[in-house]
Amino acid sequence: MPGFPEIRPRRLRSSAALRRLVAETTLEPRQLILPMFIREDAREPIAIRSMPGVYQHTRDTARKAVAEAAQLGLGGVMLFGVPSSKDETGSGGIDPDGILNVAIRDAVSEAGDSLLVMADLCLDEFTSHGHCGVLDSAGRVDNDATLKLYAEMGVAQASAGAHVVGPSGMMDGQVGAVRTALDAAGFVDTVILAYAVKYASAFFGPFREAVDSSLQGDRKTYQQDPANAREALREVDLDVAEGADIVMVKPALAYLDIIRQVRDHVDVPVAAYNISGEYAMVEAAAANGWIDRDRAILETLTSIRRAGAETILTYWAAEAVHLLR
Ligand code: PBG
Repeated sequence: MPGFPEIRPRRLRSSAALRRLVAETTLEPRQLILPMFIREDAREPIAIRSMPGVYQHTRDTARKAVAEAAQLGLGGVMLFGVPSSKDETGSGGIDPDGILNVAIRDAVSEAGDSLLVMADLCLDEFTSHGHCGVLDSAGRVDNDATLKLYAEMGVAQASAGAHVVGPSGMMDGQVGAVRTALDAAGFVDTVILAYAVKYASAFFGPFREAVDSSLQGDRKTYQQDPANAREALREVDLDVAEGADIVMVKPALAYLDIIRQVRDHVDVPVAAYNISGEYAMVEAAAANGWIDRDRAILETLTSIRRAGAETILTYWAAEAVHLLR
């Protein structure tokens, strides 16, 4: 049977030029956002053991990293603060002189309009108990009391110059509370990137070291159960109705199905967070010589794009640009 089979999918894979021609998914610098940690008392960058290659920055090295991110054409940076002191209500997150707000001002002055400066809007780095909100007298996370603080924190971040704020605490009504406060303060153009879908995930592990978290226990009363998918769409609908401009799914890799469902469900841009544990897994396996690190990085990011995310927050953002060149 000469010529059998008649249809040969392998034909389009037969050269690099053909593979490039028919590639369905792109990975571009503008689609990547670099999360960064800035530590208040740091005199030099401090390595995060569980995230090889990622550092708690000083204000100075953070500025340099922001300038490099802009020069590489990244979409933005997402800033996290690591304060030298914490309290019950996380007041360091709202204080205009708190490390995160200071770092936002530094980043904006460094980058100008060449890249977006985004800020994580959550209390967990700033509270002595490490929860994302304030506690009531019984020690439970108090949703509505927390909303008032998120509203103030959002205004503080916008005042510091943040182009985008990212409410990440999974309190009910957080997007609406922040939007209302921003609008009332005149920040009608400040974008809300809502961590709309956030699961109570084991893969956040290395992040706890990255921000010197004081959390005991877990976040299961506010972050979602990994068993639930329909609930993710409900969270997205609520956030869009409350004024979210962009919705995010987090983590990414164990939730690629959720990214796809959210992409097909709403019209707003969809982001995904390639989180600390996803980074650590690849780095650890690569350090052991068990996988090809560079290929694993690009394959990971491509899978998140293919699942439907337009934007990816990833600790490999700068590196990926080099790998793509
Ligand atoms: C909350 C926040 C967390 C992360 C981003 N924002 C921690 C959490 O929800 O437990 C995790 C990011 C990562 O793991 O890379 N401020």
